[in-house]
Amino acid sequence: MTRFCILTTLILLYSACKRTPENINRTGIIPQPVSLEFGEGAFVIDEDTKILYPDAFAPVADFLSEYIGGRVNTEMQRTEDEDTYTIIFRQDESLENEEAYALKVTPKNIEISASSPRGAFYAVQSLRQLMPVPSGDMVTGEDEMGIPVVEVFDEPRFGYRGQMLDVGRHFFPVEFIKKYIDLMAMFKINTFHWHLTEDQGWRIEIKKYPELTKVGAYRDSTVIGHYRDEPRRWDTTRYGGFYTQEEVKEIVKYAQDRFITVIPEIEMPGHAEAALASYPELGCTGGPYQVQGIWGIHKNIYCTKEETFTFLEGVLDEVTELFPGEYIHIGGDEAPKDNWEQCEVCQALIRSEGLTDEHELQSYFIHRIEKYLNSKGKQIIGWDEILEGGLAPNATVMSWRGTEGAIEAARQHHDVIMTPTSHCYLDYYQYESDKEDKDILAIGGYLPLSKVYSFEPIPEELTPEEGNYVLGPQANVWTEYMKTPEKVEYMVYPRAIAMAEVGWTSKANKDYDNFLYRLEPVIKNLEAMGVNHGYKPEEVRKEE
Ligand code: ACM
Ligand code: ZN
Repeated sequence: MTRFCILTTLILLYSACKRTPENINRTGIIPQPVSLEFGEGAFVIDEDTKILYPDAFAPVADFLSEYIGGRVNTEMQRTEDEDTYTIIFRQDESLENEEAYALKVTPKNIEISASSPRGAFYAVQSLRQLMPVPSGDMVTGEDEMGIPVVEVFDEPRFGYRGQMLDVGRHFFPVEFIKKYIDLMAMFKINTFHWHLTEDQGWRIEIKKYPELTKVGAYRDSTVIGHYRDEPRRWDTTRYGGFYTQEEVKEIVKYAQDRFITVIPEIEMPGHAEAALASYPELGCTGGPYQVQGIWGIHKNIYCTKEETFTFLEGVLDEVTELFPGEYIHIGGDEAPKDNWEQCEVCQALIRSEGLTDEHELQSYFIHRIEKYLNSKGKQIIGWDEILEGGLAPNATVMSWRGTEGAIEAARQHHDVIMTPTSHCYLDYYQYESDKEDKDILAIGGYLPLSKVYSFEPIPEELTPEEGNYVLGPQANVWTEYMKTPEKVEYMVYPRAIAMAEVGWTSKANKDYDNFLYRLEPVIKNLEAMGVNHGYKPEEVRKEE
């Protein structure tokens, strides 16, 4: 043996015995993977660790390097060799689901296989949860970090895993939207449904119709307390805001970088009073209209006159340019027909189109918009009211008033997204005790963590063939009673994490007790990220 070989052997021996740090997190991953098996020992990330990846995975590898750089004092170098102490990404076309990944951690390497960057990104999200829980500040600046030996294979149950945010009732800054997206990505949510227009505010810049944000983005006052309180009280504060098209692009890109598609929602024909306040000629009565300061259902909706379609097509022209995804959500919920019943133009249209009533008129409205969007290569999603009066030919139904809409739509061979109030409305109270606390006002209802977790997205009434039309579940976050980012986080976490597991994990692999066990380090991670979560373990245990 040459001296060089002896030296190498000694180095290898020393390296193979790299000390395992004490702080190893073997709790698990949320959402629960298809399979996960821990072994003995750990891979140690320190200044020797290198990273190897095909060019296609560069953004994901960079994401991981940057994350690790924030935890450990190292700048990982890219390498071309599959040496020891290397994190190795491999593109493996045999993994058919592009969200699937395999993750293998040994004391020598971390190997990540996926057919696409998307799957590799999810492996990285899992890897993050296998790291030690950050202490205090996210930037721990340790010299090393241990990852437990483990073998994971994973792929999602549903291809659509959504989370909605209403920015109409309250407006949230770009930085918060990014944080919201970051948290979605952490739990492998792949769709951000961005509810952008409401009676109480129009939140997206449309260059062709500047009044929408000059007028429609601001209200003069807002109801104080619950809107059903008697007597009603009002503040006198002008409130509002909107996203410029540049900001929208920035957010879409930010989401894209995290493999999240943004679905914008432009509400029609109802929840449109902010638009009518901006352009009163689009209503049946001519106004006056106001950007509303009170929640609930408002009867001033778009008139079915030609100007409305010209306007909406102009709006959608800009919206489709901004959002590259397949879907545009056109609302369709809660549109009272009072004004249409009294309106000459609307009644004349009912007669000339041979429609039987105002429900069919709404169906005519949605059909026309669908046709327009289909011609631009987009598909529509609507709340389940779009079933009334006849479903537009290619529409996807978002079932919120229970699951009846989903059942009906799936039986008509339409895709459905499951968001029933019973399990998916994160604006409902999460604890009985919160109902007694006037500082934690919510819209009402009661949706504890365990109930979110118990949600089964495929209604039992459907045949297996019909069940295939269920794209997946979504958590909805309506913000009438969430004025601040902190309140949103309080209401959303940890319930959105339970919904993430509903959307990702197979039925057989779901286990609520085990979920709560895995939740503990995740909560500490959220705390290190400055998330004002609402997790109260003693309350959660009580509700079972
Ligand atoms: C809804 O909650 N109005 C869709
Ligand atoms: Zn009308």
